[in-house]
Amino acid sequence: MSDREQFNRHLVHPWADLPSLGEDETTPVVVRGEGVYIYDEDGHRMIDGPAGMWCMQTGYGRREIADAVAEQIMDLGYSSAFSVINQRETELAARIAAATPGDLNRIFFTTGGSTAVDSALRLCQLANNIKGAPRRKHILTRDRAYHGSTFLAASVTGKERDKTAMDLLQGHVHFLTAPCRYAFPQELDENEFCDFLVRELEDKILELGPENVMCFIAEPVLGSGGVIVPPADYNRRCWEVVKKYGIVYIADEVVTAFGRLGHWFASEAVYGVVPDIITFAKGLTSGYVPMGGFAVSDRFMAEITGDAAGGNIYSNGYTWSAHPVSCAAALASWDIIEREGLLQHVREVGPYFQSRLRSLADSPLVADVRGTGLMAAVEMRLDTSARGAELLAQDYALGELVDHYCHRFGLLVRPLINVCIMSPPLIITREQIDDMVSALRQALALAEADCAGGLG
Ligand SMILES: Cc1ncc(COP(=O)(O)O)c(C=O)c1O
Repeated sequence: MSDREQFNRHLVHPWADLPSLGEDETTPVVVRGEGVYIYDEDGHRMIDGPAGMWCMQTGYGRREIADAVAEQIMDLGYSSAFSVINQRETELAARIAAATPGDLNRIFFTTGGSTAVDSALRLCQLANNIKGAPRRKHILTRDRAYHGSTFLAASVTGKERDKTAMDLLQGHVHFLTAPCRYAFPQELDENEFCDFLVRELEDKILELGPENVMCFIAEPVLGSGGVIVPPADYNRRCWEVVKKYGIVYIADEVVTAFGRLGHWFASEAVYGVVPDIITFAKGLTSGYVPMGGFAVSDRFMAEITGDAAGGNIYSNGYTWSAHPVSCAAALASWDIIEREGLLQHVREVGPYFQSRLRSLADSPLVADVRGTGLMAAVEMRLDTSARGAELLAQDYALGELVDHYCHRFGLLVRPLINVCIMSPPLIITREQIDDMVSALRQALALAEADCAGGLG
């Protein structure tokens, strides 16, 4: 059986389309990666537009990471964080603590981003129970936020189309307006829109009663929701409101950390926010092996440890928490980012990337181009009167069509429905950015010609 036949016979992938399960004919089978490029089974080379899933920071084929992983496997291929301490986790935790803002000096390692979010929320719940505030249960989040796929992380995710028939935590989760002016029905300028959003947050806190609100969780830039860059000062002003009422601020930096916005963490460096908790994953290991975690402030922990703990334990963790092999990969990736000056590189190349992508806005198929750093979205839309399910079907068809042509021109996109996520490996050069934009431009032109006859 071919790989595709085996795939169709045996596999379920994330976000599987159930009506067509087992009938995939288009998803590329990939076999190899090198730098910013990924190769399919026919040897066809493509720039990896979304860097895997926002995670291949240092690019494919890094011998240094492979060696670090191999060496670690031979030295100590596993250790249980339930019972022992490994030297790689202590080294990595110290580095992360030094790179996080404020007094976020305590690190908990998980297996990825969902488990990082889950673990952080469960720590907040525990903290309130310990502190004698068990009614502080309400979680504030935003429409179009993505926080993961475990039950709790999915429950605070605001992507409407993903909820379908999934069961989720109800009652304690509140969705605020996505900070996306482009999709907002009213005509407001950026300041007015920001005022509206901040007021909405404060009103919701007052409506619920501040003493009942546990936390506000926010990606500094919403990633999987379509790369939504909030109005300037939105993050900082939300943080001020949340602080005023003694509510925990969780910055979900699963996408924005480790260089994507030109800094180890974006919260303070880019947005002037010092969260109580930062969740991270993805770029931590450059995607080579799974790992995530959160950093929490000393102040937060001081209130629930020692004499204040009331004898409680943080009964949350994973067989693969602080896995030494993952830590070794993370340390090697970190060394590369430092040695090659990739944070600075992103700060230099990011504006070029953004301005080149914006040149695509003249395509009739492009509804919006947005982004910051090495995070961007090219949203496509047919000029159509379709609404609801019909519009969704059209969006999917358009996304697939452009994806198909991008593939031909050497760019892997895999759109989120009708949104091309562009977040290449941090090592991308200006010439490679030009290649990305050129491939997308050609793909859009062919798609446009096809669409002239209507999308079937
Ligand atoms: C902001 C954010 N949080 C959490 C997650 C979940 O991470 P993972 O897929 O590693 O569980 C993601 C994944 O895309 C994400 O973008």
